[in-house]
Amino acid sequence: MVDVTFIQPDGRRETYSAPIGDTLMDVAVDNGVAGIIAQCGGGCTCCTCHIWVLEEWQDQLKPAHPDEDDLLAYALGRSSRSRLACQVRLTKNLDGITAEIPSES
Ligand code: FES
Repeated sequence: MVDVTFIQPDGRRETYSAPIGDTLMDVAVDNGVAGIIAQCGGGCTCCTCHIWVLEEWQDQLKPAHPDEDDLLAYALGRSSRSRLACQVRLTKNLDGITAEIPSES
């Protein structure tokens, strides 16, 4: 299990334990995290699981697949920290990963 923290737009932090192999979207959906709609259920077609992974975790992430990168073009507030939560799969080295949830996905 690893810990995942989401930061809501109002600054509220929520931390959950999740099994390695789950995606950040799985963690958000399983725990009813507001702001992660995940309309396509992880199919990388909707962009409603947009998050901003904190800078200090960027080096630990695998680069975005070109399909994810293309879809992120539609994300409101896209930044260099933007990812689709359904495309970030938990590994042991991501224990403690923290991501902000945009006010609108
Ligand atoms: Fe639809 Fe991630 S849940 S793109």
